[in-house]
Amino acid sequence: MRIGIPLESLAGETRVAATPKSVAQLIKLGYEVLVETGAGAQASYPDGDYVGAGAEIVGRATVWAADAVAKINPPTDAEIAAMSEGATLIALVAAPRSPELLAKLAARRLTVLAMDAVPRISRAQALDVISSMANSAGYRAVIEAAHEFGSFFTGQVTAAGKVPPAKVFVSGAGVAGLAAIGTARALGAIVRATDVRAEVAEQVESMGAEFVAVEAGEQQESSDGYAKEASEAYAEAAARMYAEQVKEVDIVVTTALIPGRPAPLLITEEMLATMKPGSVVVDMAAANGGNVAGSAPDELVTTPNGVKIIGYTDLAGRLPTQASQLFATNIVNLMKLVTPAKDGLIVLDMNDVVQRGMTVVSAGEVIWPPPPTPVSAPRPAPPPLKEPKAPRDPRVTYGVLGVCGLALLGLFWASPAGLLGHFMVFMLAVVIGYYVIGNVSHSLHTPLMSVTNAISGIIVVGSLMGLRQADSSIAIAVLSIGGILLASVNVFGGFTVTHRMLKMFRRG
Ligand code: NAI
Repeated sequence: MRIGIPLESLAGETRVAATPKSVAQLIKLGYEVLVETGAGAQASYPDGDYVGAGAEIVGRATVWAADAVAKINPPTDAEIAAMSEGATLIALVAAPRSPELLAKLAARRLTVLAMDAVPRISRAQALDVISSMANSAGYRAVIEAAHEFGSFFTGQVTAAGKVPPAKVFVSGAGVAGLAAIGTARALGAIVRATDVRAEVAEQVESMGAEFVAVEAGEQQESSDGYAKEASEAYAEAAARMYAEQVKEVDIVVTTALIPGRPAPLLITEEMLATMKPGSVVVDMAAANGGNVAGSAPDELVTTPNGVKIIGYTDLAGRLPTQASQLFATNIVNLMKLVTPAKDGLIVLDMNDVVQRGMTVVSAGEVIWPPPPTPVSAPRPAPPPLKEPKAPRDPRVTYGVLGVCGLALLGLFWASPAGLLGHFMVFMLAVVIGYYVIGNVSHSLHTPLMSVTNAISGIIVVGSLMGLRQADSSIAIAVLSIGGILLASVNVFGGFTVTHRMLKMFRRG
């Protein structure tokens, strides 16, 4: 089968659906790849590199006449007309908003795999372009904000004075929001974030940001893993929280989205009026109606009090090389799934929720929407309320404490001299350990735990001492050697795990 990769015709589009690397991977799956002249030029992938990877560079008509066409944006009427009847189209099609487009595609008896309809389940993550594009866009949102912001993100102490770090507030901790949090933290800002899903607090905190909860005691999540619409009480509590946050911070990035609905308005005009002049707000949802009052798609708007509102809708496209590479990899992962025999033939399995979910037109028949795919584990039922316990008589408590104290004194009295000293050292170690570990970032706890395996070195020392007496007993020798072996596994294993985990935190 021949897969065509056209030059994107949408004005301002910089991305391309295949890179030289992905072309080589498609060829390995048995496909022939046709790339339109100049398709990757804006993403820094010259035609020559595609040829080097095994593709053929062809004209527009040939690329559109291929058995399958993989592209980024929905095709135009002319492009649909140029496709071979019965061919396969792989692209973003915005199915919920495009019934007319689906009808036109069906009329050409096409099969359409919508890259934006991949179910959000773990198994489908490798083909989820919405996530890979949101990841690039979240990164770029912070870069755009930094470009418009008149100060450093990171705090500095210089000979000319002290510069405080910028404060960044991110609304919505989905894919884009988490990428924005990571980027702002990497630039040295103090970052806070909120989300209607309280469960993301841990992820936010693990990235070094503070989670700001809405004090309304309500969990907002639907059965498909997305946020659900907020209740009135929740919305009021959220508005109070936003009003407090925005007047304090320098940068706001909003990414709040409820699928299938216009974006919720979170930052009102009144809130913007309380922000500091020079603050920057990036409204990532500008294309869907906006989370910020006054934001305009693809524009930079400045409010009367000097707050800049960025509404760019092409944030991923502003990183064309990286975004194309991620998109192309998602397509390769899809092709691996639908080419089970690696023979260059697409074989769709409609019993597979991923393939069924993203097939919006099948051989000329519109089959969208697919049956719902629940992705979240059902929430466990709340534990039954316990009967409140009757308050304990304080005499019993003091009695128990007294008996414990006497037992401890008795133990010290009966135990060998020196135990008290060891016990004091132990208690001090507990207190110091508590404060030391308490001040280590959560994300470093696991490497810290694994390195403490080195304490097993004490067993190695003990076993070596045991070996010295071993001439008198074979049992001691065997136990000592076993102890040395096991403790060594613990010590060296701990260092290996620590090394591997710390590697994840190292740049480059
Ligand atoms: P996502 O679904 O992964 O994340 C959205 C998050 O918003 C979820 O965690 C959800 O719980 C949260 N949320 C929903 N309603 C909320 C509310 N009222 N308050 C606080 N949080 C709320 O979506 P993803 O992929 O991260 O995309 C985020 C936004 O970025 C979308 O609007 C998307 O269209 C947009 N986007 C914009 C691009 C651009 O170039 N401007 C490029 C890519 C995505």
